[in-house]
Amino acid sequence: MTMLATDFKKQVLELKKSRNAVILAHNYQVPEVQDVADFIGDSLALSRNAATTKADLIVFCGVHFMAETASIICPDKKVLIPDLDAGCSLASAINAKELLAWKEEHPDAVVVSYVNTTAEVKALSDYCCTSANAVKVVSSIPTDRKVLFLPDMFLGAYVAEVTKRKNMYVWPGECHVHAGIKAEDINKMLATFKNADFLVHPECSCTSSTMYHMAKGDLAKTGYVLSTEGMMRHARSSEAKQFVVATETGILYRMQKENPGKEFVPVKEDAVCKYMKKISLEKVYNSLAYNVYEVRVPKNVADRARLAIDRMLAIS
Ligand code: 13P
Ligand code: SF4
Repeated sequence: MTMLATDFKKQVLELKKSRNAVILAHNYQVPEVQDVADFIGDSLALSRNAATTKADLIVFCGVHFMAETASIICPDKKVLIPDLDAGCSLASAINAKELLAWKEEHPDAVVVSYVNTTAEVKALSDYCCTSANAVKVVSSIPTDRKVLFLPDMFLGAYVAEVTKRKNMYVWPGECHVHAGIKAEDINKMLATFKNADFLVHPECSCTSSTMYHMAKGDLAKTGYVLSTEGMMRHARSSEAKQFVVATETGILYRMQKENPGKEFVPVKEDAVCKYMKKISLEKVYNSLAYNVYEVRVPKNVADRARLAIDRMLAIS
């Protein structure tokens, strides 16, 4: 007999209790997964939550590097991801061998890796960062030290612009979803939504043109470059009634649910991460019921990667 969505929901909630499990979900997850989550957030908030949870089991509804990060932070807990194919095009933009070669070219540099990287890459890094704290992390490094920033070139360019750092080398990686949100998409929206706040994720290829509009005056008081959780906070606190949102569209469900009187418009309707959408309610049920799929990081890699993550958590 096939189970209905409502049955899956009921079973998930029961299993969660009986197994002392916590469900962590990224802001891009599908609505029915967000609805069973104990906590929804951006990469930084999810890492912080994993670090403090009292649960024995973490079901991570996000992509693989996020579940790996939780496993690195909580080596004594079981971490499950409901679908192993939930990858990330950005995390695939650099591997450990490529980073080692890059480090050899700049042996005296400090390596700052975005959280969207594999555990092996984090293990070769001095600092980890997320979109919420990248500026803070890079600013904490003495200005005379060379920085290798990876793997997102748009976030890297944004951090270099804000910190005015000249000795920062940026890896030419990108997220296929955010790279597709272009300057012309923002310009089109600017012409139509004159009274809206513009919320832009720093992985977008339109980030530098957004910064230009902010500096020039078109978006002086209404343009914001933010992590997904930063966008959620801004949506709550701003007096604006309309928001143009430049990131993966999964975030709109939570934005609208938490702010029923406000209107949220995606800059690009098809900015959809197929990896985030791999996780369904049925797969969350399978995960809890059959312990699939456990994410484990070898101890020698996890111990080194943890140093980079802990340095980040101490700063932010
Ligand atoms: P946030 O940390 O801002 O949620 O970003 C994660 C991510 O994968 C963006 O594509
Ligand atoms: Fe990775 Fe981009 Fe998907 Fe975020 S939206 S998980 S960066 S592929």
